[in-house]
Amino acid sequence: MTKLTNSISLSLWGKGGSGKSTTALALASLAAAEGRRTVVLDADPQRSASAWYHSSKTPSFAVHSTEVAAVPGLLGRAKARYDLVIIDHPPARYSGSSQIAQSTDLSLIVARPYAFDLTLALEWVGIVQRAGAEPLVALTAAPPLRLGAMAPAVGGARARLRQAHATTWAHQITNRLIYPDLIGRGMTIADLPETTAARADYARLLTALCDKGASNG
Ligand SMILES: Nc1ncnc2c1ncn2[C@@H]1O[C@H](COP(=O)(O)OP(=O)(O)OP(=O)(O)O)[C@@H](O)[C@H]1O
Ligand SMILES: [Mg+2]
Repeated sequence: MTKLTNSISLSLWGKGGSGKSTTALALASLAAAEGRRTVVLDADPQRSASAWYHSSKTPSFAVHSTEVAAVPGLLGRAKARYDLVIIDHPPARYSGSSQIAQSTDLSLIVARPYAFDLTLALEWVGIVQRAGAEPLVALTAAPPLRLGAMAPAVGGARARLRQAHATTWAHQITNRLIYPDLIGRGMTIADLPETTAARADYARLLTALCDKGASNG
């Protein structure tokens, strides 16, 4: 576990269906399992994170529904109360979106390693950068490594992101049926044993983000 002295806020961006809500819930559950007070601000009118929260019997973190435009105003209070504040942004751009990118400590763009996702991910990179922040891109629902080697789709995606000078997480969240299955049962990643590869994917991402948060100040 990376030591965080300050509370951090993390915004999640990406194409529809790229894995924002799954990632928000996964990271929140792992942070809560480490003893961090955590909240997900569900700014998506689809309310996926909120629906999960209501279906969960024992949520270890809070989910608060809000509007995109209200998020910047909520951040100060949320950070005073929680160690980690995760914003689940909708797939489309809203008038308050840039202000969220501007006011959160970290911006994570999630993308499946395929053409349409990457196009949108690079658009979000531009939006977040123009707001003055430096986003990290993480590949999600990626084909598994085979004998430690990345699948051609992942290699191609990384090359495209590199070419566009997008900072990309070195690891990946693999495509695993256990993720939708857990969410559908009101559970999440922290309900998996610590030794499982499915849990390790998100745990590694959380560590990378906390390291980035700590080095940003
Ligand atoms: N790593 C993964 N492996 C397999 N399935 C995944 C993975 N990540 C997400 N999914 C599934 O993909 C679908 C979309 O995921 P999710 O709802 O998290 O995306 P989203 O970006 O929040 O979508 P939206 O833009 O609609 O809010 C869901 O059914 C989810 O369970
Ligand atoms: Mg979502």
